[in-house]
Amino acid sequence: MANKYVTVTAPVNIATLKYWGKRDRFLNLPTNSSISVTLSQDDLKTTTSVCYSKNFESDALYLNGNEESLSSPRQQSCLKLLRKCRIEKEEQDPSLDKIASLPLHIVSVNNFPTAAGLASSAAGYAAMVYSIAKLYQLDLDRSELSKIARQGSGSACRSLYGGFVAWEMGSLDNGSDSKAVQIAPRAHWPGIRAAILVVSAAKKEVPSTGGMQLTVKTSDLFDYRVKQVVPARYEEMKKAILARDFGVFAELTMKDSNSFHAVCLDSYPPIFYMNDTSKRIVKVITTINEAYGRNVAAYTFDAGPNAVIYYEEKDEDIVLGTLHEFFGSVPGWAKKSGKSFSVPRKFPIEKFDHDVFSKGVSRVILTSVGEGPTLVSESILNPDTGLPKL
Ligand code: PMV
Repeated sequence: MANKYVTVTAPVNIATLKYWGKRDRFLNLPTNSSISVTLSQDDLKTTTSVCYSKNFESDALYLNGNEESLSSPRQQSCLKLLRKCRIEKEEQDPSLDKIASLPLHIVSVNNFPTAAGLASSAAGYAAMVYSIAKLYQLDLDRSELSKIARQGSGSACRSLYGGFVAWEMGSLDNGSDSKAVQIAPRAHWPGIRAAILVVSAAKKEVPSTGGMQLTVKTSDLFDYRVKQVVPARYEEMKKAILARDFGVFAELTMKDSNSFHAVCLDSYPPIFYMNDTSKRIVKVITTINEAYGRNVAAYTFDAGPNAVIYYEEKDEDIVLGTLHEFFGSVPGWAKKSGKSFSVPRKFPIEKFDHDVFSKGVSRVILTSVGEGPTLVSESILNPDTGLPKL
């Protein structure tokens, strides 16, 4: 039997309605539904090749060239679930090769700028689950696969789709209805752009699981957020996406980022993810919106100080003109070389202390809404050895 292999790429997603809180820590079941935009794989992606062989000693994972442990309970639950599906398939069709129990080698690389401080777990788990499902020729749709990826990292379930994605929280104890669904494909609203302002490349100070547990346990505001705020916002945001209403989408996105960071602050002891640079970025974005009398751009922050700014292509000159004024000297603008930026006419630049406002950002990543996991032909592992190709 030849060593078979498959290669896929998978995207990063950034939530516009945040997942924060688990009702089941082991199955990664959330306390609220969430919504995200999948970002373009041209700029941010994980590529994963997987291969099985009876000659391999055991399962192995190589990440960015280095062998890494594959023993975490989350990695193990994804592998177990995928193998279980393959075993069922082999039992139904005895003519199939018996590969479910053979050791797997997983070789994975991120194209993110090293030390960008961006969470790679969503793209990583989506790529791992999608690639093994393809290798095993499982007849599961993306929603079914999202339930498996969810057990690796909650937000990973949304990286199974491109475009605009919802994670429906579900209500069953076994999690079988907690899955990602696509609200709209990339082509529905291809003009959505994202500028990521990298404020810190450091690992999260408070990892998301621990942070969520603390918020669920101690925040008084949390109950109001999950019972009142998010359910209404979830419906409104879906509607805004379907109507391509950027003004409403932006308002809901910013409000939800604020609400998520408010429940973090309301945790005891408090959790601070945004820092002074993050707060200055909020000021810049709200000033653009005030100056133009509409929501030209929306900020959102995850469990760290990095900002993601969503805007529409038609407003690129306004948004990038402003950001370039403050952060034009950091890496990440090469993609726009040849373009000359200027502060937009209506932006009250005189009100900003340039030295203070241009501090703290180390890189920008200019990207857009993108597609979901994709099968590709070029492998990054050597199928004979199961090791990363050099
Ligand atoms: O899936 P995790 O454990 O990486 O948690 C993600 C939490 C946030 O990024 C803050 C919000 C979200 O919905 O992605």
